[in-house]
Amino acid sequence: MWSNLRRFLTPLGLAIPLISSDCASTTSILNRTAFIFTFGDSYTTNGWSGHGNPLASHKIECTTAGPNWAISLTDLVGHSTLIDLAVSGAVSDSDIIKSQPVDFRGQTTAFLNYVARSRNVPWTSRNSIFTITFGTNDVNLSFKNAQGNGTSVYSKDLTSYFNTVDKLYNAGARQFVFNNVVPFDRAQIGIDQGGKLAAKLKDNINEFNSQLAAKAASYCSSKRDITCQVFDTHTTFANVMDNYAAYGFATPSGYCAAYANQRTCNVVSQDRSCLGPISSYVWWNDLHPSCAADLVWAKALKVQLSYVS
Ligand SMILES: *[C@@H]1O[C@H](CO)[C@@H](O)[C@H](O)[C@H]1NC(C)=O
Ligand SMILES: *[C@@H]1O[C@H](CO)[C@@H](O)[C@H](O)[C@H]1NC(C)=O
Ligand SMILES: *[C@@H]1O[C@H](CO)[C@@H](O)[C@H](O)[C@H]1NC(C)=O
Repeated sequence: MWSNLRRFLTPLGLAIPLISSDCASTTSILNRTAFIFTFGDSYTTNGWSGHGNPLASHKIECTTAGPNWAISLTDLVGHSTLIDLAVSGAVSDSDIIKSQPVDFRGQTTAFLNYVARSRNVPWTSRNSIFTITFGTNDVNLSFKNAQGNGTSVYSKDLTSYFNTVDKLYNAGARQFVFNNVVPFDRAQIGIDQGGKLAAKLKDNINEFNSQLAAKAASYCSSKRDITCQVFDTHTTFANVMDNYAAYGFATPSGYCAAYANQRTCNVVSQDRSCLGPISSYVWWNDLHPSCAADLVWAKALKVQLSYVS
């Protein structure tokens, strides 16, 4: 049953010499992070179906053609176990945004039923980070029919989101990361909508992110004992696409079919039909980032967390 978890355990590396003694006491939340719990959709999943015990071994799959951001973050932290409850296609609340996959509410129920009191997962409020990454499917499935920029539907969806966060809080979760939605209006799925719908998609993403930030601030200020970070995945990806060449990418929005049909969490080998290796691409397919873009995400999030005590 541990095989799924152990895969991401990285043995402690060689001791790194301290830069200088006056920096030696620098510690952050990351120094004490033994567990990284992730909730989300295909951007985050490593293949759990949403049904049964998330700790049981399952086929490992990523829609990145290499390690996704959650795996890369865990690798970069170096001494944590990733427990990934994300499910491909998931939204925050599937009663509000109609969809089949197990949503954030269901993922949280699985956490409470199978993980929270498992003897195999000795997590505590202080040794665990809970990352929540929803919105891509919520916006993709709703933007066309949403009134205006989606204010009303995202208000309901994100109210449910923080009700679910509160269930995690009640189980002892105290350290949260909320990733916002990347500008996928600039990925091929958005570009293919044509100018008018792509513009609506952009407005809806911005509205979702704006409400996420406001509701996170309001939820987090209502509790005295929690740490909350909203990670701005949106700006991270906008920067990557604006400066794609500087990051080593060959195209800001293109993807290569030969990579897009490989659902592996290991870096795929180069295909001659593509512009270069998977690291040449920001996108795995028309909607999903590549492992290389996800590594930028993981590194930036790690830097942000390294300032959090
Ligand atoms: C905390 O982690 C940082 C980054 O990995 C490291 O440089 C530092 O030495 C650690 N501090 C302690 C007290 O372990
Ligand atoms: C995006 O939403 C449309 C409905 O508007 C749906 O048909 C499509 O499958 C969704 N795409 C993805 C990749 O989920
Ligand atoms: C969404 O639309 C509402 C109503 O028109 C507006 O007040 C709000 O500023 C818009 N949201 C964003 C992020 O621009």
